[in-house]
Amino acid sequence: MAQINPSILSADFARLAEEAKAVEGADWLHVDVMDNHFVPNLTLGVPIVEALSKATDTPLDCHLMIEDADRWAPSYVEAGAGSVTFHAEAAAAPVRLAREIRAKGARASMALKPATPIEPYEDLLPELDMLLIMTVEPGFGGQAFLDIMLPKIRRTRELISKHGLELWLQVDGGVSATTIERCAEAGADVFVAGSAVYGAADPAAAVRDLRALADVATAAAPWACDH
Ligand code: DX5
Ligand code: ZN
Repeated sequence: MAQINPSILSADFARLAEEAKAVEGADWLHVDVMDNHFVPNLTLGVPIVEALSKATDTPLDCHLMIEDADRWAPSYVEAGAGSVTFHAEAAAAPVRLAREIRAKGARASMALKPATPIEPYEDLLPELDMLLIMTVEPGFGGQAFLDIMLPKIRRTRELISKHGLELWLQVDGGVSATTIERCAEAGADVFVAGSAVYGAADPAAAVRDLRALADVATAAAPWACDH
């Protein structure tokens, strides 16, 4: 079944605990950490992740859009994140970092900006629990989905099948009721949605609707025929 991860970047930051509860049927809560260096925006860090992990039972999916990921990512596992995503472009030693995240007890994930190809990372995929393909330039919520990323999603799904990996394939950026089916058809199975969930009148219903759309599209997708 498709996993839907609402992004709290689009939530009310003054009411984070309530906003987390508003999407309790979600699989993970997506937490965007930005440092104003890797991306031109500043959001939150370790203390808020720590507080949020105590305030909700939904596991936290921390997406680190920060420089020097090697130094900072392990702190997010200690803060309570169940999954930690670092950017390939910001990690000096991605294999060592993924192993450290796993050793500390979280799922290890790596993200690729739109201009970063998947091919150089083919041999690293067994070290990861999830690969995140950005479908916007990272930094802000509410941007338009980049259709030009669909071939990369397809190629990544092919690599996952070729190597028989248990790797989740996440998409993030512009995912909504009008774009989620294209992502699922291309091979994504974990979907981050910020504005499409928190911009809806009923965020919990938006999560259910998105999951239903993704599930139908996945069932019809060639890559999922053996699932
Ligand atoms: C953008 C963030 C996303 C953002 C998605 O850099 O990584 O997680 O919250 O927001 P929407 O779904 O509104 O594009
Ligand atoms: Zn994100």
